[in-house]
Amino acid sequence: MSTPIGKLFDLSGKTALVTGGSRGLGLQIAQALGESGARVMLISRKAAELEATTGTLRAQGMDAHCMAADASQPAEITRVAEETMRAFGQIDILVNNAGANWTAPAEDHPLEAWNKVMNLNVTSIFLMCQAVARLSMIPRRSGSIINISSLAGLLGATESKFIAYGTSKGAIVNFTRTLAAEWGQYNINVNALAPGPFPTKMTQGMIDRLGEEHMAAKVPLRRIGDDNALKGAAVLFASEAGRHITGQTLAVDGGISAVHV
Ligand SMILES: NC(=O)c1ccc[n+]([C@@H]2O[C@H](COP(=O)([O-])OP(=O)(O)OC[C@H]3O[C@@H](n4cnc5c(N)ncnc54)[C@H](OP(=O)(O)O)[C@@H]3O)[C@@H](O)[C@H]2O)c1
Repeated sequence: MSTPIGKLFDLSGKTALVTGGSRGLGLQIAQALGESGARVMLISRKAAELEATTGTLRAQGMDAHCMAADASQPAEITRVAEETMRAFGQIDILVNNAGANWTAPAEDHPLEAWNKVMNLNVTSIFLMCQAVARLSMIPRRSGSIINISSLAGLLGATESKFIAYGTSKGAIVNFTRTLAAEWGQYNINVNALAPGPFPTKMTQGMIDRLGEEHMAAKVPLRRIGDDNALKGAAVLFASEAGRHITGQTLAVDGGISAVHV
């Protein structure tokens, strides 16, 4: 039986957990999910910024909650998943967005920084998926996982020196495929977004150094990302509208990967 398209994108009654939701791309995604009717639980380390963001979303009419936690710590991941389950009884949507970057020429990249990036960008995503799937998605035979990769996971870069970051984001592309293949039997969709450059705290230094106009000139659509560019793709992957899509990485990059891959 056909379902009206508006209903397929409706997230009412769903609970979404978004790591790194206090600002930047995590906030944009949380906003999209909240505006589509989901209850959102935002996670990040700095409580003050997190609470302020949550207050803003509530003032906009969203059912927003938050928990300060460090997603790079396995015990914190367990706590986040357990406390969210205690509070809401289900986690339908998991957005693994928190990530770290480190810039250094590959030949000088410190091992400690390599481990830090790989731990947050890869290992903690694996552990978060495991915790949420065990507690909610596998028993309920339902869930959508959205992993945030990057254009840096699809191609190399000449102007940025970030060997650990690029490696970690590439790993997420195949992590997403592999997990989707394994958890399809539980009706869990696993997809990834690979954003091109967006102006956020993480990229501010790069944008200041290269200049936004210089960066935009290399993009087929002649612009970098903005406060709305990820919203549609996030809701598609989180909702019934994306029910038959799994294991995919969607570049949201103004077309950069289309011309460089
Ligand atoms: N901006 C871009 O152009 C771009 C492009 C491609 C991919 N991405 C990816 O998009 C994701 C978000 O990046 P962004 O640009 O939005 O960066 P951002 O503005 O710096 O935001 C990062 C968010 O993650 C949180 N966070 C960082 N480390 C954390 C940890 N250990 N535990 C919990 N939360 C943590 C931060 O809050 P606290 O500091 O308070 O913890 C903040 O909420 C990252 O995975 C990044 O690699 C970004």
